[in-house]
Amino acid sequence: MINQNVDALPNLAHAPIGVFDSGVGGLSVLRHLVQLMPNERYIYYADTKNVPYGNKSADEILFLTLQAVDWLCKKGCKLVVIACNSASAHALTALRERCSVPIVGLVPAVKPACQITQTGQIAVLATQATLQGKLLAQVIDEVATPMGISVYKHFEPMLVPWVEQGMPITHQVADLLIEQTSQWRQMGVDVIVLGCTHYPFFRQFLQAWIDDNAVPMTLIDSGVAIARRVQSLLAVFQIASPDDAPHGEPLQFYASQLTDDVQMTAKRLADMSVSFLVD
Ligand code: DGL
Repeated sequence: MINQNVDALPNLAHAPIGVFDSGVGGLSVLRHLVQLMPNERYIYYADTKNVPYGNKSADEILFLTLQAVDWLCKKGCKLVVIACNSASAHALTALRERCSVPIVGLVPAVKPACQITQTGQIAVLATQATLQGKLLAQVIDEVATPMGISVYKHFEPMLVPWVEQGMPITHQVADLLIEQTSQWRQMGVDVIVLGCTHYPFFRQFLQAWIDDNAVPMTLIDSGVAIARRVQSLLAVFQIASPDDAPHGEPLQFYASQLTDDVQMTAKRLADMSVSFLVD
């Protein structure tokens, strides 16, 4: 389904795909995009001056997101991925009305979680902004509720800053994460939805605890599904890159505030060569 009125997009096959997040979290989505479509060019924009978005008001998130996406459109992007659940929750509808290129947004992966739960109890770990947004409420009402599945929502405001700092494992946030996961286990939750694009970066850490404790729990995020969605939209609008081979250029990473820490964390999380730029 294409829920956007986008006219024909001529001559855009060689244009880059824009990827936006408040910080480095959207790189978890970018990695799936590059894996599936290594022949495409990407421009990443991180609003590191304003991260985290998750505890900002809906109006503030809307304002910052419109600004960022306008900027990506001015850079000539042929499609923009809002690789941020918080921004998608509060700006996706406005963006689709405003932009002349396809906009792909994220919603926590409740739908696939409902398909695999055995206990009928799932947990969504996301920012406050995402948990309060209409997109999540809608998917719960349309999918989880009719299936009789209980959805436990939880936010921990320190998670995003922890990822932005490079996730030191000996940190109180790491302990809080394990504590919360044990609580869910006792409640019978068997699927945890990582509903923020920063969270897949601590997936391995959480999975190690799940494996060590033989806990019957699955972690799930939206990265692969978003990459497939982008691929299918490029085909529908006939704007996929005609190149067969990966172009081999570094990722163009722009940030509203480009500190040494941002560069170090982004380099580590991107898992590809990165060119850091300031506009
Ligand atoms: N990575 C973002 C998300 O998916 C933003 C988190 C934040 O800035 O609070 O929600």
